[in-house]
Amino acid sequence: MSDPLTPYGNRPMVTPIVHAVNYEYRDFEVLRKITDGEIDGYTYHRDDNPTVRAVEKKIAALEEAEDCVVCTSGMAACTLVYLTYLKAGDHLILFHDTYGAHYKVSLILERLGVEITWLNADESSRLDQYVKTNTAMIFLETPTNPLCKVIDIAAARRAADCSGARLIVDNTFATPYHQHPIALGAHLVVHSATKALGGHNDLMAGAIAGPKEDYDKLWFTRQAIGATLDAYSASLLERGIKTFALRAERMAANAQAVAEHLRGHPRVRRFSYPGLGDDPGHTVATKQMHNGFGGMMAFDVGETQEDAKKFISALKVVCHAVSLGSTESLICIPYLTTMLYLPLERRTTFGVQSNTVRLSIGIEPVEQILEDLDQALNVV
Ligand SMILES: Cc1ncc(COP(=O)(O)O)c(C=O)c1O
Repeated sequence: MSDPLTPYGNRPMVTPIVHAVNYEYRDFEVLRKITDGEIDGYTYHRDDNPTVRAVEKKIAALEEAEDCVVCTSGMAACTLVYLTYLKAGDHLILFHDTYGAHYKVSLILERLGVEITWLNADESSRLDQYVKTNTAMIFLETPTNPLCKVIDIAAARRAADCSGARLIVDNTFATPYHQHPIALGAHLVVHSATKALGGHNDLMAGAIAGPKEDYDKLWFTRQAIGATLDAYSASLLERGIKTFALRAERMAANAQAVAEHLRGHPRVRRFSYPGLGDDPGHTVATKQMHNGFGGMMAFDVGETQEDAKKFISALKVVCHAVSLGSTESLICIPYLTTMLYLPLERRTTFGVQSNTVRLSIGIEPVEQILEDLDQALNVV
């Protein structure tokens, strides 16, 4: 029987969205071959889906990885990694300067018997001192969320090797356009594909890229707990990826211009962007990032949270919203948003203040962004 989508071998230009949850088996032998992994085939959506599989291959290629598991959100991806590789008695190293929801997941992991050490990104140069015989995983972001600090991935891998721990790098802020953590020593790369890979604020997805043997392990966990992405979101993600490199290039060029323009502004303090020559992370960023330094930056506005609120409220082009990596420039106060669920003392221990803003630069004409930021800083 010929494929109705390609009766003359002329493939559709877009991966079809396969909404089917289940697939009719031609016979028992086909069922056996699919479930034994002898042939590619689909049985049930929680196991696999062709639209999802197509986007997994694309993300694997972007990350120069053998394969990729896509799931329902960035946090689902992180949690899949934790559940796949950690057990009671293991030690996990995390950084305070990491997307806030990890704190919540850490409470669950501790309940399950995982021991956790939290470090400041500034302590990453001494990471090996915190590795213990039972350290099974080091999980880091670079640049970090929200303060855009840079952690040396190759050095982190050397520290992980002291105990045979797995090094996991969340590459959401950098994106594969600027950084390839696997080539630098990471065992796995994690993404909130909700961000720059999708790029249009219209889907949630997560991705984990790495070697084929890890694909099998992560696939097992995803299948077991049912975190498989729906086909429509997978299709939106695949469409986003088609323009990803163009958007990433523009965001980084815009961000570099914004950072150079804003860092000396009298109402701005503690400007953090790895693309600035005097940024503490610049040397390592230059070593491990390429094609520029991404679209994310953080800085303090005025002296108080009221100053930061006045600034954000006056913006007309830059949108006050969480999330990042999208076509639109987005800004938020992490203290009130992504870090909100952290106990108060934790929010400030690693350097986030109540007037710190996180800015994700979009693809608008750069003059519009600069003009908007300038006029809004004038009201502070
Ligand atoms: C660096 C980073 N990793 C992971 C996540 C979680 O992603 P999601 O919101 O898709 O669950 C976020 C969300 O903002 C993030 O910024």
